[in-house]
Amino acid sequence: MNIVAILGSPHGMKGTTGALLAGVISSAEAAGAEVKTFLLSKITVKPCLACDVCHRTGECSIKDDFKTIKAAMIAADGIILASPNYITSVSAQMKAVFDRCCGPLHCQAMQGKYGATVVTSGGAESKVVEKYMIGFLQIMGCWTVGSVGAEAQQIMDEKARAPKLKAAARLGTRLAKAIREKKTYPGQVAVQRSFYERMKSLVTMRKDDWNYEYKYWKSLGRL
Ligand SMILES: Cc1cc2nc3c(=O)[nH]c(=O)nc-3n(C[C@H](O)[C@H](O)[C@H](O)COP(=O)(O)O)c2cc1C
Repeated sequence: MNIVAILGSPHGMKGTTGALLAGVISSAEAAGAEVKTFLLSKITVKPCLACDVCHRTGECSIKDDFKTIKAAMIAADGIILASPNYITSVSAQMKAVFDRCCGPLHCQAMQGKYGATVVTSGGAESKVVEKYMIGFLQIMGCWTVGSVGAEAQQIMDEKARAPKLKAAARLGTRLAKAIREKKTYPGQVAVQRSFYERMKSLVTMRKDDWNYEYKYWKSLGRL
């Protein structure tokens, strides 16, 4: 059972998002998962250039660490996305990863994986970012098992952090269990299905230009 965790905070594992993520990771590991963590504070993922090279060739034109993250995500059974709330969205570091996933999104290359999200915020505003990251995972074709959010203060205060760390631990266990039991979530099928159909039409419409993606869909017998 392989899980990839991606942390979008510039503070890495020393920040509040990192502390909450650590709780998810250790319980997933205790449940038998092997977790590979990418700290976007330590590696480079530049913003998408919208050059369309990935759609035509399957390879991104930007030479940085995204290639390794993409390969790990595609090989994984589960994906944990962790970001602080930056102006009611994810950090720019995390958004760069999402945008660079445009090729795998068109290919629906992450279908059937399992995802979870982790968010911290200065105020009580984690939910909107959790919803956004859950939405990202679902349009990628993943089943989402849940999310954990906290105010920074709830993590920084040693006495107050126990309930949030427990929630993080529950999420890690739930993610590992979902992977092991190959759980499905009927409530998520409509979103996945409608995005899949949209990508199918798009890839078919652009088949002469976005050669790689059309061939990818064909090779899987989806077209
Ligand atoms: C650029 C920036 C934007 C932020 N925007 C928000 C915001 O819109 N809402 C909020 O509640 N907190 C906001 N915060 C606070 C962070 O979400 C909060 O401090 C978070 O816990 C930091 O996580 P970290 O310790 O992992 O870096 C912002 C912080 C920064 C640096």
